[in-house]
Amino acid sequence: MDIIETIRARKSIRGFKPDPVPQGVLREILEIAVRAPSANNTQPWEFVVLTGKVLDDLREANLEAFTNRTPFTPGIPIPPDKWGEPYRGRQLSLGIELFRLLGVGKDDWEGKVAWAEKGLRFFDAPAVILICVDESDQDTVYIFDCGTVAQTIALAALRFGLGTCIQRHITNYPEAIRKATGISASKRIIIGIPIGYPDPDCPTYKLQSTREPVANITTWLGFD
Ligand SMILES: Cc1cc2nc3c(=O)[nH]c(=O)nc-3n(C[C@H](O)[C@H](O)[C@H](O)COP(=O)(O)O)c2cc1C
Repeated sequence: MDIIETIRARKSIRGFKPDPVPQGVLREILEIAVRAPSANNTQPWEFVVLTGKVLDDLREANLEAFTNRTPFTPGIPIPPDKWGEPYRGRQLSLGIELFRLLGVGKDDWEGKVAWAEKGLRFFDAPAVILICVDESDQDTVYIFDCGTVAQTIALAALRFGLGTCIQRHITNYPEAIRKATGISASKRIIIGIPIGYPDPDCPTYKLQSTREPVANITTWLGFD
């Protein structure tokens, strides 16, 4: 795949085959992805890559925190309860299409809780990459840097037939993550990336998110 095809082909994968991902492949993806740019080349990202029992323990810890209604304390600020427009509309249209594919109706709270739980289980991916940043990094541009490396991981993964979903939801309960993984309090847990071989039979595989046309969001200056 050339780079343009790869960029166009990437989409969030929320259903995986159980097949394990070889450690060597995950290492190669990270070695490629760290070529991502960062402010002043600070490379604030650190990775914790999980599979097997420790990942299963983490899924359990996340679910326990959810069931116990543990307050959210994510490493980066969480979105407001009510988005303003145009963001709310975009978020809603994604959610409506996702739940339509899942067969979860508007008032089907059980279905919605089951989906939230699936998210907290990292969509049952066979491996997960957590991106962390040391607490000593006080320059909030690290969030941007983590974004460049996360997208590069997602693109590089395609080269190996792997799918990913950049996932903020799983950072809601950092204490549960620390308990299950031993990640120290000196590391902010920024984002999680479930990674594995996509399951094309998963209903959400058909989800194709939309984009605002470039014409609506671009101001061209000095072209005529
Ligand atoms: C910072 C960030 C956080 C995200 N968090 C979640 C999440 O918690 N759960 C989820 O299912 N998808 C999550 N996503 C995936 C987005 O929903 C997805 O990228 C968007 O709907 C566009 O769809 P696409 O990735 O298929 O193109 C996140 C993406 C980003 C960049």
